[in-house]
Amino acid sequence: MSSLTTAPIAPLLDRLFAEAEASFAAIPPAFASMTEEERTRLLTSRTGYRDVYMGMKDAALAVSRETGTLLYMLARSIAARSIVEFGTSFGLSTLHLAAALRDNGGGRLITSEFEPSKVTRARANLVAGGVSDLVEIREGDALETLGRDLPETIDLLLLDGAKALYPDILDRVESRLRPGALIVADNADWSQDYLARVRSAERAYVSVPFAADVELSMRMG
Ligand SMILES: C[S@@+](CC[C@H](N)C(=O)[O-])C[C@H]1O[C@@H](n2cnc3c(N)ncnc32)[C@H](O)[C@@H]1O
Repeated sequence: MSSLTTAPIAPLLDRLFAEAEASFAAIPPAFASMTEEERTRLLTSRTGYRDVYMGMKDAALAVSRETGTLLYMLARSIAARSIVEFGTSFGLSTLHLAAALRDNGGGRLITSEFEPSKVTRARANLVAGGVSDLVEIREGDALETLGRDLPETIDLLLLDGAKALYPDILDRVESRLRPGALIVADNADWSQDYLARVRSAERAYVSVPFAADVELSMRMG
């Protein structure tokens, strides 16, 4: 039996993914109608990210169902007990990772979100999924909230907040990543600095583009 495929999480995710699809309508028309170039410029900005995400506070912006399932599988297969997530939103990816922790026998997931209304929704979803005991939501800018009080060892890192900050978040978490730890970076194409780092010849990581929009990296020993 898997927590991901049984109640309460399975029907909850069915509902939340349906709502996430509908919530694309909550993306401001000005953003939705931008050219790809303009959107990329905004999403890769190191200064304007807060305004961008505040403007999309009613949109779930969730990982795809496939990426969610991949997160569960990866966390299970490495027997993860300690997970950090950058970008909680409504908690859909968080539910997948927390389900894996539950099925691994327990653990701790630290996740980060700066939009207060999203924190409230994520908290409610984690309670509905029966996994709130495994998750600590740190409210505020992850540049600060993930820069302190991290576990000694981290097994898996999900990067899914402001794309321009992926290298900065990695700076804060990197020393805690155990050999063999996995990093899943969603939409990493919008963070070329990050890709250059995990793919660099220094070989601190083994890294591959995986599925449609994920970069999967493994920390070397
Ligand atoms: C793509 S969504 C995350 C989706 C979520 N991982 C899921 O699959 O359900 C990105 C989220 O990161 C949050 N965010 C972006 N930059 C942040 C930052 N610097 N600190 C905290 N939260 C941030 C945004 O408010 C937004 O809710």
